[in-house]
Amino acid sequence: MKIEILTIFPDIFSSFLSESLLAKALAKGLLTVDLINIRDFTHDRHRTVDDRPYGGGPGMVIKPEPLSEAIDSRLALGGPKPFIINLTPSGRLLEQVLVGQLAQKERLMLICGRYEGVDQRVLDLYSDMDLSIGDYVLNGGEVPAMVLIEAMARLIPGFLSDSSSVQDDSHSYGLLEHPLYTRPRVFRSLSVPPVLLSGHHAQVAAYRLGEAMAKTRAVRPDLLEKKDVMERTIMFFSQSSSPLKGKDNK
Ligand SMILES: C[S@@+](CC[C@H](N)C(=O)[O-])C[C@H]1O[C@@H](n2cnc3c(N)ncnc32)[C@H](O)[C@@H]1O
Repeated sequence: MKIEILTIFPDIFSSFLSESLLAKALAKGLLTVDLINIRDFTHDRHRTVDDRPYGGGPGMVIKPEPLSEAIDSRLALGGPKPFIINLTPSGRLLEQVLVGQLAQKERLMLICGRYEGVDQRVLDLYSDMDLSIGDYVLNGGEVPAMVLIEAMARLIPGFLSDSSSVQDDSHSYGLLEHPLYTRPRVFRSLSVPPVLLSGHHAQVAAYRLGEAMAKTRAVRPDLLEKKDVMERTIMFFSQSSSPLKGKDNK
């Protein structure tokens, strides 16, 4: 997967891309990330990327010319047609199913807005999707781009040492994940639930499913309303490779 990020603050990404699993994935070539500084496509002395909004109002707007030139410069390199995403709080809400769909794309281009956002005409010309990472407003699209990249990267085969661990993550089959425990068995007089020490896979699975259901009902009852959540839960629960069936914490 190839990701191209259009931003006026490319340095924000440096430690994100040079640490931990993402750095390893880049080194292994599981994905590539190119940073494109929109400011490099300005032609005035001040390298201006923003201007006042037509119609008045507060703040500034990213100008169409440098951004469109930045995109054109990438398109001119050839290769597969990119799926171009405008990161904006007014976009479609990112959720795990959509992460999975976007992770299938061969080439993604991410437009990171700043100020009040981006001139609509450049979006009309190039963008395939407006995407929001949540119902809140950040200063820029760089953190949303990192959120999207990390969520997608976890789904790329070879990114995680044990790729089966994504299967029982929250939101993967519909419910929130059950609580997790590790050693010691007793911590500050709190014991690990005995069933997890039993070695009885079916009982562990039933316990975890019950906990996942209870947590989802308490914290995110809206998830239980989703169309196929129970079908996906049953399918996940019945798979022989399911961590719910196979793992315990003895
Ligand atoms: C201050 S925000 C602009 C908010 C915009 N005026 C609005 O009301 O929708 C500046 C930039 O941050 C990014 N941004 C902020 N919140 C975001 C979110 N929840 N999801 C995705 N991008 C976001 C976008 O790229 C946006 O262009």
